[in-house]
Amino acid sequence: MARTPTSRREFFRLVAGTSTALAGVWTAAVTQAQPLRPTPSCPDAPQPTARQTEGPYFKPESPRRASLLEPGISGVKIVVAGVVLSTNCQPVPRALIDVWHADGSGAYDHAGYRLRGHQFTDDQGRYRLETIVPGEYPGRTRHFHVKVQAANRPLLTTQLYFPGEAGNGRDPIFQRDLVMRVQDAADGKIASFDFVLRS
Ligand SMILES: [Fe+2]
Repeated sequence: MARTPTSRREFFRLVAGTSTALAGVWTAAVTQAQPLRPTPSCPDAPQPTARQTEGPYFKPESPRRASLLEPGISGVKIVVAGVVLSTNCQPVPRALIDVWHADGSGAYDHAGYRLRGHQFTDDQGRYRLETIVPGEYPGRTRHFHVKVQAANRPLLTTQLYFPGEAGNGRDPIFQRDLVMRVQDAADGKIASFDFVLRS
């Protein structure tokens, strides 16, 4: 039975090609899982998601989890969801999505992995992340840091932004096409963003 990666470390080992046997299993698993049908909302020729700087606070080996909520973390809850697509409009199953961001007061956890985590898209290329709205910090508007990678493909490093933030106009890194769609929900906010990787 085909086996899919169970950890970020294993994923990168596959991507790096250091285990050709595992890479073969990976390719088989992805091929079997690909629905190969267009996503209705996908435009004819989607542009790849823009790359942005990683910044100074990335830490490798984040835990695999779809919720970054844990005891002691306070703030406005937000669910960020969407799909990972290729530039030929196909969903990308089993794509890695690694997110890290500041807490509600604008501070990153440098000692541990609070507000850091990775997950893989499902068979339809979908992801869903549960976390809190990050705070601003000097020089930066509100943002998430994200790395997205399909198996055996280049890594996309980028950032996601919030609409209507006064800080957007003051942040030289801010990019309008990386703004999420965000709406209020009963217990926080719901955001959506679709990533597009080069085919
Ligand atoms: Fe940051």
